[in-house]
Amino acid sequence: MAQQNREQWGTRAGFLLAAIGSAVGLGNIWRFPYIAYENGGGAFLLPYLVALLTAGIPLLILEYTIGHRYRGSPPLAFHRMSKPAAAIGWWQVVICFVIATYYAVIIAWAVRFAGFSLGEQWGDNPGAFFEQEFLQLTGQQPGTVTTFVPGVAWPLVAVWAIVLVVLLSGVRRGIEWANKIFIPLLALLFGILVVRALFLEGATDGLNAFFTPDWAALTSGSVWVAAYGQIFFSLSVGFGIMITYASYLRRRADLTGSAMVAGFANSSFELLAGIGVFASLGFIAVSQNMPLAELELQGINLAFVSFPSIISEMPFGASAFGLLFFGSLVIAGLSSMISIVQVVVASVQDRTGLTRVPAVLLVGGSASVISVGLYPTDSGIFFLDVADHFINQYGIALAGLVIVVVVAWFLRGLPKLQEHADATSTMRLGLWWRVTLGVITPVILGWMMWDSLSTEFTENYEGYPTALLLTAGWGVAVGAIVLGVLLALLPWRRQADDSPMFGDDTTEEGRR
Ligand code: ALA
Repeated sequence: MAQQNREQWGTRAGFLLAAIGSAVGLGNIWRFPYIAYENGGGAFLLPYLVALLTAGIPLLILEYTIGHRYRGSPPLAFHRMSKPAAAIGWWQVVICFVIATYYAVIIAWAVRFAGFSLGEQWGDNPGAFFEQEFLQLTGQQPGTVTTFVPGVAWPLVAVWAIVLVVLLSGVRRGIEWANKIFIPLLALLFGILVVRALFLEGATDGLNAFFTPDWAALTSGSVWVAAYGQIFFSLSVGFGIMITYASYLRRRADLTGSAMVAGFANSSFELLAGIGVFASLGFIAVSQNMPLAELELQGINLAFVSFPSIISEMPFGASAFGLLFFGSLVIAGLSSMISIVQVVVASVQDRTGLTRVPAVLLVGGSASVISVGLYPTDSGIFFLDVADHFINQYGIALAGLVIVVVVAWFLRGLPKLQEHADATSTMRLGLWWRVTLGVITPVILGWMMWDSLSTEFTENYEGYPTALLLTAGWGVAVGAIVLGVLLALLPWRRQADDSPMFGDDTTEEGRR
């Protein structure tokens, strides 16, 4: 039975690489730079750092400790903590399932754009190329499907195939092995890209725009909300990924040290991405003789419209620059995508006792069919945008809030978990850990929820039709909660309760 012989990482370094691979993703390369820019530039770095220290790292340590102590995917780990809490774990599983369906689509776009870079196929108007030729948007009402877009579908099938082959190969031979290749390759490609970007004309202007602090922004609540939101998405906390990955650690594991390394590695990469992207944007502003503030810097546009413009303007090595950028997006995206799907696979295994291959085929098969059926259409980008917004706000971040409230206040579990983390780590956690998780994080996240919910009810997100928001947005976010509760109502097989976990007995062994 899967539980008795739970898979394990080959080495602690392998686990760390996988954890960093999960954290470093699309969120670092295109999300962080424009979020930072829109929220005070250099001044954003302060709330960002506060969010990292008061919520990101403490939550990362919490997720590692839950996964290691209870030795299970989120539903099993929470079930072992307290039976009704299993609903939180299943909710995270549904969140990961939804995210996987669209996360793969952005990677598929990046695959195509890596190819387009070779001949600068977007021509003189990358914006029109992306929307009209590539996505085949016809100006129809967002949410209405009129055509299937094969140019998105085939790379999407390829992305799913790669992810599933890695997952079929297992934790050590698949996930760990893939990350041992992906992470050094990503560091190399992105390192070259940043160095090249720094030598572009106008790079200094771009960096000035990025780093010049707008201190007034610090008094705005939404800037702080954005900082916490970015930390959650970027560190992969709230998804249940870190619970799952930590469940494959051996008995002896430096949980706190690993969380610190993964957290700071992710933020360093994020800063590097900000530098690379803004140096490049400085170049395009100079080439097009327009102020940087007037460039279109919104989310998806940053990668798929602004970067093609930059590539087209480059004096030499344009194709190579395009390959470096889109190649980095693909690699960073794949390693995160693998971790997201693994949460669902591990939970199905823990729940049913299925071995890896049928579990991967079941999960991967159903998620990929939905992904390939829904998103390569002329409304795909709208489904993606709405689902992403709602599942981030009322999925990941809300799950993070519910976890800290339930674990800290209802179950009063922090002292026990702290004891477990301390027993397995060289660095000991202090009172700060319990205070940040028990007080600071819930207060800030609670405020964040209130803030975004009030906006949601005053205006339609991006002005989209209400029907689209009710289905792809609220329907998905509320559906994830309902499904999570329903799945938790199904009784566990006896073995799940009996299987070994690194519970109270760890204390002694862990110290050795
Ligand atoms: N942490 C992953 C990212 O940044 C999900 O994309």
